[in-house]
Parts: sequence; C-alpha cells; structure tokens
Amino acid sequence: MTTTILETVKTIKTLNAIAQTGLNVFNQPNFKVDDESENPDAYVLRSFNMHEMELGNNVKAIARAGAGVNNIPVDKCTENGIVVFNTPGANANAVKELVLTSLMASSRNLFDGIRWTRTLEEEGEKIPKLVEAGKKQFVGKEAKGKTLGIIGLGAIGALVANDALDLDMDVIGFDPFISVNTAWNLSRNVQRAMTIEELFANSDYITVHVPLTDKTKGMFNKETFSIMKEGVHILNFSRGELVNEDDMRLALESGTVGKYITDFPNENVLKMNNVIPIPHLGASTKESEENCARMAAHQVKDFLETGNIKNS
Ligand code: MLT
Repeated sequence: MTTTILETVKTIKTLNAIAQTGLNVFNQPNFKVDDESENPDAYVLRSFNMHEMELGNNVKAIARAGAGVNNIPVDKCTENGIVVFNTPGANANAVKELVLTSLMASSRNLFDGIRWTRTLEEEGEKIPKLVEAGKKQFVGKEAKGKTLGIIGLGAIGALVANDALDLDMDVIGFDPFISVNTAWNLSRNVQRAMTIEELFANSDYITVHVPLTDKTKGMFNKETFSIMKEGVHILNFSRGELVNEDDMRLALESGTVGKYITDFPNENVLKMNNVIPIPHLGASTKESEENCARMAAHQVKDFLETGNIKNS
C-alpha cells in the first residue's frame, strides 16, 4: 500500500512530525509516505487542486486535511468508487478564533489604526500628535449587544455561536440542514432564523460557514446586500466564491457593507479601505494542521487496512 501526500512542504512536515512523535501512522508496515509514488492507493492533501489530475486506477481513497472538498473532483471519485474524506471539526477552533479576532479587530478599526500610525510616523509625524488624532479618527463600536448572524451551524458555526454569546452578542443562526433542536443543542440560546433573508435583514455582523456548492455560490450578491442592514460587517472564512465580488465592490463603495473581512483576497476589492484581506489563515495554526493531518491519516489508514469508512 502506498499513499501519496500531495501537499506543501509545511504539511508534509506536519504529517512526518506526527509520525515521529508517536502516532506512527506513516511508519506502519506497508504504509509508506512516498511523494513520488506512481500509482498510489490513496492521496492525502490540503490545498492541491486535483481537478486536472489523472487519477491512477489503483486509487481507493482521497483525504483532504481540511473541511472543504472543492479542490477534489468528488463526483468523478464517486463514479469511480473512490472514497473522499474530509476532516470535519479538526480545524474548527482555529477558524473560530480568527473569526472572532477579526470581528472585534474590524469593529475597533484596529488594522486601519495600526497602518495609519506606522505610515504617518514614517512620514515624520510625532507620536503624541498621532495618538491625539488617532483616538478621534478611529472610534469603533463594541460587539456587545450587537446581532451576529451565522450562516451554517456545523462545527465552526456552532463554536462561533457559543463564544459570541459569551461576548454578550445576540446570535441568530441559519442552516438549511440542521434542525432547530440540533442547532439549539449545538449553540445555546441561538435564535434560528426561519429564512436566510430574515438573518440578512437583522444582523449587524454576518459570518458564513457553509461549503461551496452550486446553491451557495454567489449567495452574497446585490439582491442579498439590498436586504441587509446599512453598514453590516461580513466575514467570509468559507470560500471566496460565495461572494459575487463585483457586487461586493459596489456594496462597499455605497456603504451598504461597512466592512468585508475575507480569508480569500480578491483583486477586485483587495485595496479598498473597508476590506480586510487575509491570506487564507483560518485553519493555519500548528494545532489545527496537526489535528487535520492526524484525522486524515487515520481515515486513510483505517480504510485501506480494514475497509472502514469513518469521516471523523
Ligand atoms: C478548510 O477547508 O478547512 C480550509 O480551507 C483548510 C485550509 O486552510 O487548508
């Protein structure tokens, strides 16, 4: 049995580190980490795009060390009997922490304030003068008492909901697949919006945690922006394509959207002052990378050795 790790050096290192620090997944007899393997039984990957790749006729499984599987041709795999795994929940804490960090940092104009202070100081402005002017220019707003709308109450959405409640925010959730009861169990005191329009209309902040599908693609567009509260902050740590970036540009220009915090920088809006472009850091913590790698490694190993399909 061979498995190919199609990934950046960083992830290969993480996977190797797991093997060396006791999990030994890749030190099992016949379970080989082999980046050059010609016709592997399985692939483990993170960001590598498999859509253009010829899948060898030996391949039985592909595991994505992450939540989204849009870089894997899932339909083609299903037709060919190839099992596709992802690692649900394994990076949820990392994403949640960055979502809430960004929510508060954007509310307090933190990034603008830092950039402004550095730039003007470099241009020769004296620090006491900067402090005096900055505290007037960058007055923010508090998250407490504001409404956070969470689209998607899976592993990440539920964690965000719980912590947002601890910040004394009002939380509304919408999820087409999770029942009211499940959502309430996952996320205490979260009000469920009956329709996504209801969530759009009532939220001061909207964070989205759904996969990219034909149904969710472009769900943030001029129609949906027109329902939202003026100045809403939108946080996108799911996939860039959920947002129609041309419409987003217009919404940012008109102030309909107050801030757009995105983990998927897009050149259309990248340089706008009210955009916070983040280079896909949601899942990029040491802990999360290890959790994802560990889960993916276990899934593939169990499946190849026993035929068990366990997507957790
Ligand atoms: C995910 O789908 O969970 C993220 O894209 C993970 C990653 O950063 O690779």
